[in-house]
Order: sequence, then structure tokens, then C-alpha cells
Amino acid sequence: MSAAFKNIAALVGVIVAAACLQACGKISATDPADTVVASLPQAAMTNYAENCSACHGANGVNGAARQLADANYLASVGREALINITTNGVPGGFCPGSGPASLAHWNPKQVAEFVDGMLDAWGKNGVALSIPWSVKLAPAGNASNGQAVYAATCQSCHGAPGATVASASGSVTDPNYLRLITDQGLRSAILFGRPERGMPGWSGPFPHQAVDRKLSSQEISDVVVFLRSTASQKQ
Ligand code: HEC
Ligand code: HEC
Repeated sequence: MSAAFKNIAALVGVIVAAACLQACGKISATDPADTVVASLPQAAMTNYAENCSACHGANGVNGAARQLADANYLASVGREALINITTNGVPGGFCPGSGPASLAHWNPKQVAEFVDGMLDAWGKNGVALSIPWSVKLAPAGNASNGQAVYAATCQSCHGAPGATVASASGSVTDPNYLRLITDQGLRSAILFGRPERGMPGWSGPFPHQAVDRKLSSQEISDVVVFLRSTASQKQ
């Protein structure tokens, strides 16, 4: 065997190994089980553990606040809004993001690195929804239409407005719950569900609906306005 052939064979070996490192990494990252448990890069992980995981869950799932390890969610919200929330928290809500700006917990570079790390680890192959995530871009809602949508798609799990719900779904018309969540939080819950807890997103399945179908952007706005109206009726 000539030396030239050996060199080429070795080079091919290196190329194959390098391609495998890349492709094999990609393959495992698209496995649904891996996507959920994938860890953030080290620096981002430390920041996440110190500032976010208590509420959003270790590895971005199963916290009290919504799942962040959700590729379609991250794609729909987008890098700019994620940077904004990580910097400032959710206005009018109970998400502090990386902490009060006055304490300058994270500088803009750290925030950007963190968000890019999150998109890398948890956002692979995410597909943005065809309807807007942001309440600011959503159509205005109508409470009485929302009441009908709620009765058809939500009530089987969350109970009639004001009812005590013994199941794990809990009441979403409890005024105390509604005081703790913004309209954006409600819209996000309906759009993306809480997949790790059995809450379906906008495309269902909604088990007791006569015909299973996706909710429209308008219907989601209607339900949000309806949920709000139930709280004000009780106060
Ligand atoms: C198949 C049952 C089911 C249906 C149908 C359903 N949900 Fe849920 N929902 C759940 C479960 C389970 C949870 C998670 C409760 C928990 O563990 O926190 C949940 C959570 C929620 C939350 C709280 C999310 C959060 O993180 O604060 C909201 C808001 C909500 N649902 C609204 C709705 C609305 C509005 C509809 C109808 C469009 C709906 N749900 C339909 C089962 C359901
Ligand atoms: C003290 C608990 C807490 C901490 C800590 C926290 N969050 Fe939140 N987060 C929440 C709550 C509660 C909401 C829902 C706010 C609302 O809309 O009412 C939320 C909402 C969000 C949302 C928007 C969800 C939506 O509605 O689509 C993002 C993104 C987010 N948090 C990211 C982060 C990141 C990143 C960190 C860490 C830098 C963090 N959060 C730290 C509690 C927390």
C-alpha cells in the first residue's frame, strides 16, 4: 500500500469521524427524549440554575412556571423577545428574568449567550406557530365567544367557571390564580399547553369537543378575555 493511499485513508477516517461527531450529535439532539433532557452549555446552565430553574424547572421542564425546553415554543417567541424577557422579566407578571435591572445581574452579552445557549440546547428544529405568540399582535377578544369555546374545549378538564376542581388540572377561573398570571401567560398556556403535565396546546386533542380541531388565534383571544371576565365578576 502506498504512503499516499495510507494518508488518504487516514484523512477519510478523520473526515468520517468528524462528520459523525457532527451528525451523530445532531441525530441525538432531535430525539424527543434527548431534546427534553438536553443540558444547556456550562455557563448558561450555571446562570439558569441560579436564576430560572427554581420556577421553570431543572433542565427547563416540570417547574411551577412554564416549560422552556420546548423547541416550538422557543421558535415562536423568537430570540429578540427571549432576550427581552430574560433581561426584564415579564411586565406585570411574576417572572423576574435574570433579576432587577438595577442590580445588573447579567450584562447584555451574558443574556445573549444564555439565550443562544437555550436556543441551541432546547430549540433544535423548532417550528414557529402560524399564529402570533404575542398578545400584542393577537386580535381583540370577545368574552361571550370565549365562554362558548371554554365550555366546548376546556371545561371537561378545568371545570365550569367558579367550580372546585379536584383533578390535577385545577381551576383556571379561580380569581387567585388569575391574579398571578398575565394575559400573555394565559395565551402561552393555551398555545403551547403544558406538555409535561397533560395540558394540550392549541391543536388539541380536546377530548370532549364534538369535532377535534385546532383553536384559531381569535378563539384563543376570546378565551383569555373570558377567563379575565370570570375573575372580575367574583371580586
Ligand atoms: C385534557 C385536559 C385539559 C384540557 C382539555 C385543557 N387543559 Fe388546561 N391544563 C390541564 C392540565 C393537566 C394542566 C396542568 C396543571 C398543572 O399541573 O399545573 C393545565 C394547565 C392549564 C393552565 C395553567 C398553565 C400554567 O402553567 O399556569 C391554563 C391557563 C390552562 N390549562 C387553560 C386551559 C384552557 C383555556 C383550555 C381550553 C382551551 C384548557 N386549559 C384545556 C389539562 C387540560
Ligand atoms: C420567581 C419565579 C421565576 C423565575 C426565577 C423566573 N421565572 Fe420566568 N416566569 C415565571 C412566571 C410566573 C411566568 C409567567 C408570567 C406571566 O405571564 O404571568 C414566567 C414567564 C416566563 C417567560 C414567558 C412565558 C410566556 O408567557 O410565554 C419566559 C420566556 C421566562 N419566564 C423565562 C425566564 C428565564 C430565562 C428566567 C431566568 C433568567 C426566568 N424566567 C426566571 C416565573 C419565574
